[in-house]
Amino acid sequence: MIPAIPPLDPMPVPAPIWLVKALLWVTFTVHLLFMNVTLGGAILSAVYALKGKDRDRALAKTLAKMLPFVMPFAITFGVAPLLFVQVLYGPLFYSATILMAAPFLAIIGVLIAAYYGMYLLAWKWTALGRAQGWLAAAIFLLLAYVGFTYTHVFTLMTSPDRFRAMYLAHPDGVQYFFGDPMLLPRFLHMVLGSLAVTGLLVAYLGTRRLRLEPELGRWQFKAGITWFAAATVANLGVGAWWLTALPREAMLLFMGGSALATGAFIAGLVFGVSALVLALMGINSLKPLPMLMGAGHALAVTLICMVLMRDTLRDALLKPAYDVWALPSDSQWVAVSLFLVLFAGGLGVCVWLLKLMRDAARANAAKGDEGNRGPGLTDSGLHRISAEDSQAMRGGLAPESGQRPRVEP
Ligand code: HEM
Repeated sequence: MIPAIPPLDPMPVPAPIWLVKALLWVTFTVHLLFMNVTLGGAILSAVYALKGKDRDRALAKTLAKMLPFVMPFAITFGVAPLLFVQVLYGPLFYSATILMAAPFLAIIGVLIAAYYGMYLLAWKWTALGRAQGWLAAAIFLLLAYVGFTYTHVFTLMTSPDRFRAMYLAHPDGVQYFFGDPMLLPRFLHMVLGSLAVTGLLVAYLGTRRLRLEPELGRWQFKAGITWFAAATVANLGVGAWWLTALPREAMLLFMGGSALATGAFIAGLVFGVSALVLALMGINSLKPLPMLMGAGHALAVTLICMVLMRDTLRDALLKPAYDVWALPSDSQWVAVSLFLVLFAGGLGVCVWLLKLMRDAARANAAKGDEGNRGPGLTDSGLHRISAEDSQAMRGGLAPESGQRPRVEP
């Protein structure tokens, strides 16, 4: 008889399962954060570029310029969990990707096309004129294709009983499988999550403009919070849809069947709703930054809970055909230590690069190039500057007039 799951790699897992799992969770959480900002940044850049007012286009430009920087982080932090997925779920992951070989391999070309699009958008922003919004929308569609195909592959790999029939139906690998009720809510949950995370980032960038451009900063802050809140409320519904689309035994895991799944579910809900409440409380506050930071931290915890829930769900769906915790392991500590050292070094390089970027942005700001540096962590800056000063900052007063904005103590 042909087994549903191809036989295991004869090599044992080269590290304890808990360690590989932990690394998968950590790296996937980072991937999610950058992926969310890439996907959400592309949608919001398209929406605001197409809206057309000056303030909308300025925000669209900020997001468009950010895309070429965040996309490489999304990809690099995608490769890392891919390694751990291969180690833990190799026979399932490879089978699913072989069954969907054509759409899966196309991801490489699609990502390259999206990347070129981002550079074009960021570098030729002015020359593109009204085409900016359409190009950003095309980038979003390309990224959405990547996301949808990933959702498909990672859903399919939890259904090894489908492999044989799918292979016989399309041995050439040109296929998707749309019959799984989990697919659509799972994908929508990711897209809405991306909008929420990017909305919060937009709000944060809005607070950074408050000191020099109070009205614009406040508008951007409110716009970001509105995106965040709307996407999060919608996600509560889509999350419930996803839960009800699960097979009954899997759903019961989150209702007390498994301590980890239930704990992550409750904590995810509590922190998600807290993020929403904090963000909404900040919307009319004169000093919104503490609320915004609180919302950001609560959202980060929610993301971690979602990663844990998704992983426990995968293991539950695979049982009893495949028990990842029972895989043979033979730890090679020298290789593991070398990996951890290089991993820590890589993270250090990322932090250093981000610091360089921040310093360069500050240097530009000091030269007056889009210099909207923010007011600090607890000060909205609103009380410091009057409306007429803000006009002066935005060009209402000629710089050579010698009049400097009046900064109140
Ligand atoms: C920037 C474009 C990308 C987008 C929009 C994107 C989107 C997504 C989405 C939506 C998921 C969740 C799928 C699900 O429902 O389970 C996901 C998972 C994943 N992505 Fe990405 N992805 C991108 C790039 C990449 C790249 C280039 C890699 C690797 C080379 C990668 C590796 C992974 C892995 C390994 C997972 C699953 C981790 C796990 O199951 O624990 N991604 N991605």
